[in-house]
Amino acid sequence: MRRPMVAGNWKMHGTRASVAELINGLNNQALPADVDVAVFPSFLHLGQVVDGFLGKAIAMGAQDCAVQPLEGALTGEVAASQLHDAGCSLVLVGHSERRSLLGEGDEVITRKFAAAQSSGLHVVFCVGESLAEREAGRTLEVVAAQISAVIDTLGVEVFATAIIAYEPVWAIGTGLTASPEQAQYVHAAIRGQLALQSPELAGKTRILYGGSVKAASAAELFGMPDIDGGLVGGASLNADEFGAICRAAGS
Ligand code: PGA
Repeated sequence: MRRPMVAGNWKMHGTRASVAELINGLNNQALPADVDVAVFPSFLHLGQVVDGFLGKAIAMGAQDCAVQPLEGALTGEVAASQLHDAGCSLVLVGHSERRSLLGEGDEVITRKFAAAQSSGLHVVFCVGESLAEREAGRTLEVVAAQISAVIDTLGVEVFATAIIAYEPVWAIGTGLTASPEQAQYVHAAIRGQLALQSPELAGKTRILYGGSVKAASAAELFGMPDIDGGLVGGASLNADEFGAICRAAGS
């Protein structure tokens, strides 16, 4: 069985004071032992989060990494090796905000994927269609192409340790959530795509749903056979709400 995961993407939020408050709130949450829980703070707050969760089973990830795996002359970027050294075990790659607002395309995304894995980080690889693409009936085609871009360059085996997050762009930060059936349909297609190359790997790869996940919608989403947890943005900034979402993923 796949172990569920709930990950909180804090995006570009937080001050030292608000992060301290969130850490404190999360430390007071009862988290299920059968769920992997992770948070993705901004680079600025990685050190504070490592120190804040000492002894608590909450993993830490970064929201981005450089295309180059190791330290070097690349002003403003952070290498995956530095993230690993700072205590990260995970990194987001291919988030739609970086794809659309910062122009990250398949080539850069694939390089970041490879850089992260070579430094021992688990990639949470984000895919998803825009509203226009969904309305044009292109959802599965778009998502499959995003995954193929990685497989064609790096091979399907990279998904043995990576996690996929299906995040329909129209559901991110909008309060609109894909219905459990809509999400399940895409998750099953993603797993089917992996299974074409490796049925064994496809059965083991975790596929998270993201897009306005709330405590109220989490249990139904996580109850679908191919939904292995969630990548949570807005709701992860509230410790009680995030704790409830984590508990919804437990058995
Ligand atoms: P949201 O963000 O939960 O605020 O919609 C999800 C994400 O972008 O990962």
